[in-house]
Amino acid sequence: MRALALALLVGCAPPADEPLPLGSDAASCGSCHEDHFDQWEGSPHANASRSPILAALLPEVEAEWGALARDTCEGCHAPAHDPGDDGIGCVSCHAATGNHEERDGALVVDPSAGIAGPFADAAPSPAHRTRSGAFLASPSLCGTCHELTGPNLVNEPTLTEYRASPAAAEGRTCASCHLPADGERLLSSDASAPRATRSHRFVGFDPPWGAPEDVAAAAAERTRRLLAEALELRVERAEGGVTVTVANVGAGHSVPTGATFLRELWVDVELDGAVIAERVLELGDQPMHGERPVALLTQADHVTGGSLEAGGSRSVFVPAEGPVEVVLRGRAIRGAVLDALDLRALEPQIPTHEVHRVSGAPTP
Ligand code: HEC
Ligand code: HEC
Ligand code: HEC
Ligand code: HEC
Ligand code: HEC
Repeated sequence: MRALALALLVGCAPPADEPLPLGSDAASCGSCHEDHFDQWEGSPHANASRSPILAALLPEVEAEWGALARDTCEGCHAPAHDPGDDGIGCVSCHAATGNHEERDGALVVDPSAGIAGPFADAAPSPAHRTRSGAFLASPSLCGTCHELTGPNLVNEPTLTEYRASPAAAEGRTCASCHLPADGERLLSSDASAPRATRSHRFVGFDPPWGAPEDVAAAAAERTRRLLAEALELRVERAEGGVTVTVANVGAGHSVPTGATFLRELWVDVELDGAVIAERVLELGDQPMHGERPVALLTQADHVTGGSLEAGGSRSVFVPAEGPVEVVLRGRAIRGAVLDALDLRALEPQIPTHEVHRVSGAPTP
């Protein structure tokens, strides 16, 4: 550490083609970039190999689809290019130089090529050289891991969905929505001037498994807000009832996207706080075996699509005699999946988000 402090004072960047002098795990980066580390540490990326759902699925995958399929799952959730972390560490993104293919986690990661960042005038760091962040800022980086074509029935085309979205046509990127501006601050204690930063929380649908209650509650509120931004709920008067519409106005891909076979979003109709019509509208893909819905992809022979594409909407007429409340709810993991994996004990950790609540009444 003494030698490091000296090097720091001298402020010279390490030469090309040398491994990072401090190691490439997130904790090493975090010794200088504390705030980035703190946000990342609680994010799904940091914990990508620690999900209890993933842990329970892996033996199923191996039994039904073989050991190679299991290796494929683990190769993306705990990539070999990032051996110091239990998930997607800083180098997965900041030392990625490109990809072999734009899917299935086929990134090229090379820490000796330097660390990519947004600043053309970064101060020299004794821990790394810096380079331009064009690939870092591109949907291609995110999409290399967020576009799955297997194993077997796994099909999670978030990048493809994004490319067809109104958001992509407007020039918005994954990073513009998922790394929102987070104020100006010093990037490390020895930096001389504050910099504009971006949040590294990577808010999504997944709960922070095993987190203390207050941390989990804060995360649940962030997820609820993200879902509320994605979806609009409209209730219109109709003869003898109301027309309920859910529209994907804010996501740059389908909702849900990615691991859609786990997720559920649905609309209930309530009267005086009691549900009078359940799940009048549902979003999410359903694994099927023949005509029968099944809980897990490993039990299925095909999947019925049910996600709502970017810019799309779905409507349903609901009979009602008087004023009602229409509620859009969402949950990261379906009850049927928990049952199939014998994980009901996790239920208290999986909040049901009340995304929107709108009142309506039939035409008088
Ligand atoms: C010894 C302290 C130290 C360590 C360790 C360190 N950095 Fe840095 N880093 C800096 C300094 C200093 C800067 C320049 C800050 C500035 O210009 O304001 C910087 C800049 C950056 C930038 C912005 C670069 C640009 O050109 O836009 C990124 C991104 C970054 N570091 C990521 C990392 C990652 C990832 C790691 C771990 C592999 C890491 N850092 C390890 C000190 C460090
Ligand atoms: C999933 C990809 C990803 C991971 C993982 C990641 N970053 Fe970043 N990081 C980005 C992107 C994207 C930007 C912004 C690029 C831009 O603005 O063009 C960024 C920006 C930065 C910056 C510049 C200041 C800012 O906030 O914009 C620093 C410093 C940084 N990251 C450090 C880290 C550290 C340290 C870690 C690990 C603890 C980390 N990052 C993990 C994608 C990632
Ligand atoms: C090296 C592979 C990899 C890269 C690169 C990557 N991700 Fe991820 N990302 C993952 C994995 C794996 C998960 C699932 C973690 C989990 O919940 O178990 C994930 C989770 C997420 C989540 C949270 C999902 C949820 O439902 O909670 C968001 C949001 C996200 N990524 C956005 C991005 C964005 C934006 C980028 C590009 C800046 C990016 N990712 C780059 C692999 C990657
Ligand atoms: C216009 C803003 C926008 C853009 C662009 C965008 N997203 Fe999203 N993303 C959202 C919103 C809003 C949500 C919450 C709805 C949801 O969970 O699907 C979300 C959710 C997610 C999730 C959580 C999974 C889920 O559906 O539950 C992941 C993972 C994700 N986005 C990855 C990406 C990646 C990768 C890209 C680029 C290829 C991207 N997003 C582009 C706004 C955006
Ligand atoms: C190419 C990368 C990649 C591969 C391969 C991959 N995943 Fe994922 N996985 C992701 C990403 C990205 C997400 C986040 C997507 C989202 O939330 O929409 C995710 C999310 C998940 C989640 C949700 C995590 C949570 O905390 O609830 C589970 C479970 C999961 N994957 C299981 C698997 C299994 C089982 C396999 C193998 C059959 C697999 N994954 C293969 C990238 C991958």
